[in-house]
Amino acid sequence: MELNGKRIVLGVTGGIAAYKAAELVRLLGKQGAEVQVAMTEGATHFVTATTFQALSGKPVYLDQWDARMPNAMAHIDLSRAADLIVVAPASADFLARIAQGMADDLLVTMVLARDCPLLVAPAMNRQMWENPATQRNVRQLQADGVQILGPASGEQACGEVGAGRMLEPEEIVEEVVAFFAAKVLAGRKVLITAGPTFEAIDPVRGITNLSSGRMGYAVARAARQAGAEVTLVSGPVDLPVPQGVVRVKVRSALDMHAAVMARAADADVFVGVAAVADYRVNNAAEHKLKKDAGGIPPIELIENPDILAEVAALKKGPFCVGFAAESRNLEEYAQTKRRKKNIPLIAGNLIQDGFGGDDNRLVLFDDKGTHPLIPAPKSVLARQLVEHIAQLLTGKM
Ligand code: C5P
Repeated sequence: MELNGKRIVLGVTGGIAAYKAAELVRLLGKQGAEVQVAMTEGATHFVTATTFQALSGKPVYLDQWDARMPNAMAHIDLSRAADLIVVAPASADFLARIAQGMADDLLVTMVLARDCPLLVAPAMNRQMWENPATQRNVRQLQADGVQILGPASGEQACGEVGAGRMLEPEEIVEEVVAFFAAKVLAGRKVLITAGPTFEAIDPVRGITNLSSGRMGYAVARAARQAGAEVTLVSGPVDLPVPQGVVRVKVRSALDMHAAVMARAADADVFVGVAAVADYRVNNAAEHKLKKDAGGIPPIELIENPDILAEVAALKKGPFCVGFAAESRNLEEYAQTKRRKKNIPLIAGNLIQDGFGGDDNRLVLFDDKGTHPLIPAPKSVLARQLVEHIAQLLTGKM
């Protein structure tokens, strides 16, 4: 429930992506937001008001002359009650009208009369998006403090491929959550590793660790929502890239090491969440090993670099945070690891508590001692970890 109690007006304008706005209402509601939908006349050609009414549990507003408002001031009342206005999809026409400050229907009048921030998610044909008029309007809106979400590139309803697709509803929800999050890492560069590494034995076989990557991805998302510029160096996992995060895909520990070392000096914070394989195969075969070649293939192991310890040893390196997944003696092992790698903070968890799932139990260990966090979804724990990091960075703890 990341949007508990937030009052959001969702404006829907005329475009085929309007059907996705229905899912957006549902997802915002699921996060605890109270959603009030306002549609343009154009939007009603794609989806009906009944759909939004059923999903939001509130009457939908379409018309500035709506007689349901006792004072006949729907535009004022609706925008006054909102913490945020989100317009998704935002058509080229809508962008043009609000860039000009027009007030010729309820939605734009409400936008003009607002005293809360405005996020818009454009959706239109690629040529309409690239048109100098649209680009000019977008620049004007940015200068006016409007936050533009996307658009994404890809296949469009018109059959063309290019920029102009609305962000997916899940991505818009992430942007809304980020909008409300406290910006405790504003201006900081955060580098994170996540997932397992894969150490090849031959082209089809390898050694790996069990790691879903979910904790690392959750930390990346929370750091970005806290205002950081986030790079996520990820081993092989099948997870969506958190909105606004730059992901660098790697496979082996050596790849991960190279990707991290190339960026570490520039980072303010490094969080090593990845389950890096301690060893790699020194005699990896170029071709697939054949069973009938006789005998058990000799696999020679060689130690991988300790990425976290190496980053922690950098002269003007980032603030380093480690993870310790243990099956017993959590405190003792985690604290020993923290001292050995010379890092200020380590997050420990017992493997049996959180492996692969959505929930986890984390205990933070730093110079001040032990800070157990209440068991919670990884997204919540990631936020608490980010807050702890921010406090240590600013010397408030
Ligand atoms: O030494 P151990 O693997 O138990 O320590 C775990 C912590 O160290 C994690 O933060 C992990 O990402 C990091 N690590 C690393 N490179 C390695 C091994 C572990 O960065 N080769």
